[in-house]
Amino acid sequence: MKRALLFTALAGCATTGALAAPANPMPMPSQDIPARVEALLRQMTLEEKAGQLNQLSGKDFTGPETASKTNKLKDIREGHVGSMLNIRGVAQTREIQALALQSRLKIPLLFGLDVIHGYKTVFPVPLGEAASWDLEAIEQSARIAALEASASGVHWTFAPMVDIGRDPRWGRVMEGAGEDVFLGSSIARARVHGFQTDKLGGVDAIMATAKHFAAYGAAIAGRDYNAVDMSEQQLHETYLPPFHAAVDAGVATFMNAFNTLNGIPATASTMLQRDILKGSWKFPGFVVSDWGSVREMVVHGYVADLSGAAQAAMAGGSDMDMEGHAYRTHLPELARAGKVNMAQVDDAVRRVLTKKFELGLFDDPYRFSDAEREKRVMADPSHRAIARDVARKSMVLLKNERATLPLARTLQRIAVVGPFADARRDLEGGWIVQSDAANVVSLLDGIRSHAGSAKVDHIKVDGLQGALDAKAIQQAAAADVIVLAVGETWDMSGEAKSRSDISLPGRQEALFAALQATGKPVVAVIFAGRPLIFNHIADGAAAILYAWFPGSEGGNAVADVLFGDHNPAGRLPMTFPRNMGQVPISYVQYQTGRPVRDENSIVYKSAYIDSPNTPRYAFGYGLSYTSFAYSDLRLSKKRIGPTEQATLSFTLTNTGKRAGAEVAQLYLHDRVASLVRPLKELKGFQRVVLQPGESRTLSFTIDQAMLSFINARLQRVAEPGEFDVMVGASSDDIRLNTVLELGGAM
Ligand code: NOJ
Repeated sequence: MKRALLFTALAGCATTGALAAPANPMPMPSQDIPARVEALLRQMTLEEKAGQLNQLSGKDFTGPETASKTNKLKDIREGHVGSMLNIRGVAQTREIQALALQSRLKIPLLFGLDVIHGYKTVFPVPLGEAASWDLEAIEQSARIAALEASASGVHWTFAPMVDIGRDPRWGRVMEGAGEDVFLGSSIARARVHGFQTDKLGGVDAIMATAKHFAAYGAAIAGRDYNAVDMSEQQLHETYLPPFHAAVDAGVATFMNAFNTLNGIPATASTMLQRDILKGSWKFPGFVVSDWGSVREMVVHGYVADLSGAAQAAMAGGSDMDMEGHAYRTHLPELARAGKVNMAQVDDAVRRVLTKKFELGLFDDPYRFSDAEREKRVMADPSHRAIARDVARKSMVLLKNERATLPLARTLQRIAVVGPFADARRDLEGGWIVQSDAANVVSLLDGIRSHAGSAKVDHIKVDGLQGALDAKAIQQAAAADVIVLAVGETWDMSGEAKSRSDISLPGRQEALFAALQATGKPVVAVIFAGRPLIFNHIADGAAAILYAWFPGSEGGNAVADVLFGDHNPAGRLPMTFPRNMGQVPISYVQYQTGRPVRDENSIVYKSAYIDSPNTPRYAFGYGLSYTSFAYSDLRLSKKRIGPTEQATLSFTLTNTGKRAGAEVAQLYLHDRVASLVRPLKELKGFQRVVLQPGESRTLSFTIDQAMLSFINARLQRVAEPGEFDVMVGASSDDIRLNTVLELGGAM
């Protein structure tokens, strides 16, 4: 039995010798971690130190197979492995931990896993959750994921991904929080806190990972793993702040990135990892490489061989080598030859051991692997209820003509059409670790359970592949309303899923046109992990709900919105382009010397001759079943000194007939500065639920930090002058504005 479990986890590795009974080898008091770490470090051989910095995968590979022929089980038993990834479940983790405890120093393993949006219960993909702009909901989602993963023996998640994403061709935008620095930083903090709680040490707190450090989201042409070339100013201003926010929130680990940044692989970047992260930001945790990113430096042409890769990665500040086999193979010899700095090796080992102590693994290496808890936690029905709530909060209502939605309770007949009408696996999205697609609520299930006495016809027309069945389409004409489920399949976004064309795949737009020709109103529900282009639907559908990949409760969550049990309040965390030529695209635009003031007059202007500059849907956009009015903007001071603050307040009123949430957004613009500043930058938001007719005064405090930026010398400065202060319902729907002056020399 034991052997069978090991083979499941580590298929292909030969076993030697019997397994030791699980036992706590080094009971120690839990205080004074630094002293315990030093005591252990003093006993370690070079090989054991390299072992702590070596991370291997179980049989579920989440990257290309590496060339290593090592015997993993033997390596673990001999203390040559510090961490395993892709191992989960109490049974497996107990078995493998027991091997590590046979090693000379009995140092427990860390088990890491990509718990990206849920473990057993699947939550919306992270980009979808970001669309909720609901930090509590996002934190709660991470909390549930941590509860389930920790009960299954997992100590560490490789999340959150905090890369800024402004290029929807890049499939990994799905894993992040979108294009904006302020929203992204806020969500980074919420997710770290959700996974880790206030302090590591509880059995349900898992280590989070801020990844991929850094600038991975800016891969040239949106092609995954591609090179990144950007100014240091842009790096500091846009791409680093969410990582800094994660450090402030106490994130335990960082993962570096596959890309080169201005010619240097992130994995070897002393600037990123030593100077900024461990230097300026004083990050106390450890950095794990990305999968094989140490060895890939040979392929990049940065070093000649694996030994050079180990040397460069260590010098660069990468503490742990994920499936690269470079540290394990070469660190000891490099250290003996004086080619790596021993103080740096010790520092890396110290960082890893410290986390093992903080997690309490030296006190009880099996504390996350309790079969009874695993059973109980996985069966908790509240997790599904929370997943449903987070999913409906993530949905963005893009269009709603003639109040097509919510669907009237008087409807007699509803046709549900399209390739995703009864999909289950697709609704989960990528990075699924422990769920069963059979347990996903499909859109059809959700509509059926909400439709009351209305007849629900499932009309089977695919639209993704093959010809459209005209006869089936005609059947839809018998319905009062057609719900069309379109989008991407789950495996079209995520890692290595870049697309050169983000149009709705296959013949789905043609399917829409055929349904539209029936004359019946078409409500499009779009499932996707990234912004898509769907101009025919955008022009012609009666209503459009962007549902992302909503997770286990997806069908119920969509139906809650369609039938009005939930008033949608999602807002786009990424700009949706009209066409591929506009990509990359973001609301963060700089004024040119030739701005377009009138789309009809573009001669000698910064414009396209074949497309407007404006996107299809702007960052921050999303509709509601009610309406909101913004009024009475007040600024406590028109002018503030460098150490002063101003309070901005205004009144928000629900002017419609339903209760609903509005996401009020604050944008600033520095009118004249030593570096030209973006026309709008999000600096605050509040998600507020108001009853019909209810008004509330909302306020934001504006201080110098909010007015500051990274100047050409990479210093954060606030320069005196005038600032546009804008409040609105979206980046392109500013309702109130005023001007604030910052006085005084800086
Ligand atoms: C590669 C991915 O880039 C990273 O995000 C992930 O955590 C690792 N593989 C481990 O699966």
